[in-house]
Amino acid sequence: MEVVIAATEELARLGAGTIEKLLRSRPDAVLGLATGSSPLPIYDELVRLHVEEGLSFAQARAFTLDEYVGLPADHPERYRNVIEHEITGRVDFASGAVHGPDGLAADLAAACAAYDDAITEAGGVDLQILGIGTDGHIGFNEPGSSLASPTRIKTLTEQTRADNARFFGDDIDQVPQHCLTQGLATIMAARHIVLIATGRTKANAVHQLVEGPVSAMWPATILQHHPHVTVLIDNAAAGRLQLADYYRSTYAAKPGWQGL
Ligand code: F6R
Repeated sequence: MEVVIAATEELARLGAGTIEKLLRSRPDAVLGLATGSSPLPIYDELVRLHVEEGLSFAQARAFTLDEYVGLPADHPERYRNVIEHEITGRVDFASGAVHGPDGLAADLAAACAAYDDAITEAGGVDLQILGIGTDGHIGFNEPGSSLASPTRIKTLTEQTRADNARFFGDDIDQVPQHCLTQGLATIMAARHIVLIATGRTKANAVHQLVEGPVSAMWPATILQHHPHVTVLIDNAAAGRLQLADYYRSTYAAKPGWQGL
């Protein structure tokens, strides 16, 4: 696990630069996209690279992490709509190239199984962008999630619903109780995982992710078992790391050719 502690603009450049490098060498790469606030600086930088430097997504495909159950198709917080608004509709993905779990499916369990099959059939995710919840979730794999879970239906914790109420007019009752989420096994199958976290509220979850024992109580800790994870954090999110100085010096001394 590589930990990079830097200012948000630098984190955005690193995250977007990793996607750029992949797409310039493999234009038909499969991307994994997260919603939420954390990846937005990366998405803005990707849009800049698309507009100003010709980075194309025309042959790429993308799979999103999760979706609320039951939000109407035109609801602005439905993750399909959010991801289109934040990134995929701002670049040149081909129509039908961006996929998400179907939170309006009549048979939700079948939709989850079909989603995992679709990712496998696409050849798997080359690069997965992740955020992390204050309770240590990735995707919507809440504490207690099986560390080997496939895509499935989950019940959101009160903590997550409170955290996300800001997107629903600060009214927790408007935040759905259920979601579909890529499972931890689904996420772990991605070839490279880039997790971005900023702000003091993420400091404990980041500490657990990087330095805690692997436990279903902090689902993100499963990433310690992944061979290629990059954790991009600002100083505030790094605030509880015991080895912060070591991560800083390691990154400062890293040879430029090595890449993330
Ligand atoms: C979003 C997702 C979640 C968020 C997490 C952090 O698709 O899967 O795990 O990444 O809740 O959200 P923000 O970035 O809004 O703090």
